[in-house]
Amino acid sequence: KVVAVIMVGGPTKGTRFRPLSFNTPKPLFPLAGQPMVHHPISACKRISNLAQIFLIGFFEEREFTLYVSSISNELKIPVRYLKEDKPRGSAGGLYYFRNIIMEDNPSHIFLLNCDVCCSFPLTNMLEAHKRYGGMGTVLVSAETANQFGELVADPITKELLHYTEKPETFVSDLINCGLYIFTPDIFTAIQEVSTHREDQANLRHLSTFEALQSPTRAFPLDFVRLDQDILSPFAGKKQLYTYETMDFWEQIKTPGMSLKCSGLYLSQFRFTSPDLLAGGDGTRSALIVGDVYVHPSAKVHPTAKIGPNVSISANVRVGAGARLINCIVLDDVEVQENAVVINSIVGWKSSIGKWSRVQADGDYNAKLGITILGEAVMVEDEVVVINSIVLPSKTLNLSVQDEIIL
Ligand code: GDD
Repeated sequence: KVVAVIMVGGPTKGTRFRPLSFNTPKPLFPLAGQPMVHHPISACKRISNLAQIFLIGFFEEREFTLYVSSISNELKIPVRYLKEDKPRGSAGGLYYFRNIIMEDNPSHIFLLNCDVCCSFPLTNMLEAHKRYGGMGTVLVSAETANQFGELVADPITKELLHYTEKPETFVSDLINCGLYIFTPDIFTAIQEVSTHREDQANLRHLSTFEALQSPTRAFPLDFVRLDQDILSPFAGKKQLYTYETMDFWEQIKTPGMSLKCSGLYLSQFRFTSPDLLAGGDGTRSALIVGDVYVHPSAKVHPTAKIGPNVSISANVRVGAGARLINCIVLDDVEVQENAVVINSIVGWKSSIGKWSRVQADGDYNAKLGITILGEAVMVEDEVVVINSIVLPSKTLNLSVQDEIIL
């Protein structure tokens, strides 16, 4: 048997995701019409002998209760939310719940960051992991960017030889994708790190100099990070190996990246769940271009033109002649007649007036590269909003460009 653990983090994280994380935990923000965490969960469903899926985080339990019970029913696999009493780091959280995770006596544990978007090649990873015979295997991808963990691997054996978390200077063009497989030995490794910390802390009583030198002095003893505290020290010891994905991989820290990843997941639906894409069944009469998701409760006028990369959530109404391209439209939004929405995310319960335009350049990495309307924003008729972020509950009766409306 195997189990999967998805790290969902908590409310102190995800500040870069504002204003979309004000009322919804980032892991439940919809990408391609499904909560962000739904994508790794449904990838786990394809692993054979999967006993349970655990979500570990420090969001309030009630925020996940509904979702966890509905996805368990849908996939017919137990999905449980385990709430940490405080942030313990990615490895500390895993260790804290070791007894629950080991209930089914799994031979392997999949560990997934919730905020990555990829094709989740979990079965291939497991096969490779079994061949290598180590304690852990890390999914890696060839990229040059310094906001990730960078690593050096043996080109033949694929052993992880050297690991640096978010280095300031170039280390390697292989990055850590935030997906791992471990044997239960990982718990011993985390335990070793904590014990070592404790020893150091005891030493510190003897030597102030040593305490000042210690790079970990700012962390509580049970705060253990998977990357710095486990991958770095265990690299080069024939315990950790790498599996390289040649498929797409992205990290989802900002609203801009969520729009890009929504599109990547929609195009993946072509192969994995074509029934979720609009237009295929011929029942929707609006003109659909490319990959589009429309929630069954949404009402889209037959003369509207939608797509590519558009996700329309529950109870949305789209009026006659409206044009939507590259956008996420959240629950209960109204897009009125002849309005245009391009490269934007439209927050819950917002309303876009007749002949108005909500748009942006579509640069996913720029701060104002996509336009974001927070919850319950009203854009009045004929108003144009370009490259802007509008905070919740604002009414716009004048056009704006390159602005953050507080
Ligand atoms: N439950 C829990 N508790 N989850 C946590 C905690 C914690 O204390 N801290 C972080 N997480 C979750 C986050 O929600 C996220 O899903 C994942 O763990 C990793 O978050 P960070 O530790 O903030 O790291 P990062 O996302 O900046 O970078 C990590 O992932 C990259 C790939 O996306 C590193 O491992 C990088 O090396 C890697 O490239």
